Amino acid sequence: MAVNETRFGLSKKEITSSTDNLTIILGSEMVFYVKMRNYHWNISGNSFIELHRLIEEQYKKVEFLIDEIAERISKLGGKAIGSMQEFLKNSVLEEAKTTTVGQKEMLEDLWNDHNTMAKKLREFIETIDEETSDLVTVDFLTSVLESHESMGWMLKKYLS
Ligand SMILES: [Fe+2]
Repeated sequence: MAVNETRFGLSKKEITSSTDNLTIILGSEMVFYVKMRNYHWNISGNSFIELHRLIEEQYKKVEFLIDEIAERISKLGGKAIGSMQEFLKNSVLEEAKTTTVGQKEMLEDLWNDHNTMAKKLREFIETIDEETSDLVTVDFLTSVLESHESMGWMLKKYLS
């Protein structure tokens, strides 16, 4: 969605590049958040309490990121998407399947999603860095990338 004003010394084209990429990250993080809540409620088996809490810790981190991403879009003069349909349409992640019930399957799914997010974030950071002078978004998305690497590392420890 093209923005119609310039700000902070960035052109409309530069801002649109940043906000378009941020919108995909926003949609994806919302889908990820909902999936984490689902698994927090439905995970069972060994170490139930530990995993129930670990997933809660992660969805709280993702919830914080979601707010920061949406507000970054708004600060740049863009409009943050806010409906379930828009989140799904803009997500690079798939929703949880109702057939995903095993503990290992859930952890693997979250691990894979952290990897998908890291890969996409790396692509977007490179694109924004090449197409714009929006260093704040580049820096911000690098911190989002770091969060996914840290959360992914925690989950991977249960899978190795
Ligand atoms: Fe809870």
